Amino acid sequence: MDCDSNKITRDYFDSLLLEMRHIDSVMPDTKVTLFGQEFSTPVATAALSHLNNTAPDGMANMALGAKMAGALCFSGMGGKDEIKAMCDTGAKVIKIIKPHKDNAAVISKIREAEEAGAFALGMDIDHAFSSTGDYDVVTGLPMRPKSSDELRSFIESTKLPFIIKGVLSVKDALKCLEIGVSGIIVSHHHGIMPSAVPPLMVLPEIRKVIGDKMPIFVDCCIENGMDAFKALALGADMVCVGRAIMDPLRENGAQGVCDKITAITGELRSTMARTGASKLNDIDGSVIHKRDF
Ligand SMILES: Cc1cc2nc3c(=O)[nH]c(=O)nc-3n(C[C@H](O)[C@H](O)[C@H](O)COP(=O)(O)O)c2cc1C
Repeated sequence: MDCDSNKITRDYFDSLLLEMRHIDSVMPDTKVTLFGQEFSTPVATAALSHLNNTAPDGMANMALGAKMAGALCFSGMGGKDEIKAMCDTGAKVIKIIKPHKDNAAVISKIREAEEAGAFALGMDIDHAFSSTGDYDVVTGLPMRPKSSDELRSFIESTKLPFIIKGVLSVKDALKCLEIGVSGIIVSHHHGIMPSAVPPLMVLPEIRKVIGDKMPIFVDCCIENGMDAFKALALGADMVCVGRAIMDPLRENGAQGVCDKITAITGELRSTMARTGASKLNDIDGSVIHKRDF
């Protein structure tokens, strides 16, 4: 039995089929508003990191590419100069901070991102443990799980919206509601745990308990506009694309990222048009049929 969470997630995406609804349909609009800011597309760049090792000015160019496409940009771990360079492109950047063992290090990262001009903040709570039964250590930095009280203290330490990344259960989603987070990213962090449930499989239940109280982002294995559509249809407000923008970034810098997001958005628009959705809020989960053959 193959327990690779990325493969399982890919297979799940591909098991979802769409009916078509053409009568009365129009060319759709993909605009979306998040925390008072309008974006041209619900397709964001995922919280990637270390891209300067693989592409010149990789992190800043990811941000610039997102801005050129009218998209939101997430950022993963990285230093003060890096987040500043990303924000200086004019992109709206959400900085995802690691669950450092030392809470003072978390607060210091919050201050750095605020000073750089970040649009919002967050934490990838799923990086607390390693696969060998220890606590995680990321680039030499020790990590720890965070309690509801610790997360609440981070949220209360900033005026910026604070998002939790790595929610993959109704239980955690409910805790996020209780502690007052501003949004969640339903994700298994490109397979941080084997046999992780595909994000789209738990998304409808999570949306049911969250209602419209906060935005829901989804990532993991989103490669094209059809994947994006399926995530939006099952309850996401926005989707994040990680590995699929890395080759375009390496090959063509910011323009490569912009072109990839624009292409995914075009495929999304096409799928919306063919399923009778004229705007994102019109996307209707009932067009989805689960393959059973
Ligand atoms: C090179 C690379 C670096 C990443 N760095 C971070 C990080 O620092 N923080 C984080 O929360 N997620 C990080 N991620 C995970 C992504 O944000 C995302 O959850 C994951 O890649 C799934 O999306 P994808 O299938 O579209 O790549 C990283 C992923 C990649 C590929």
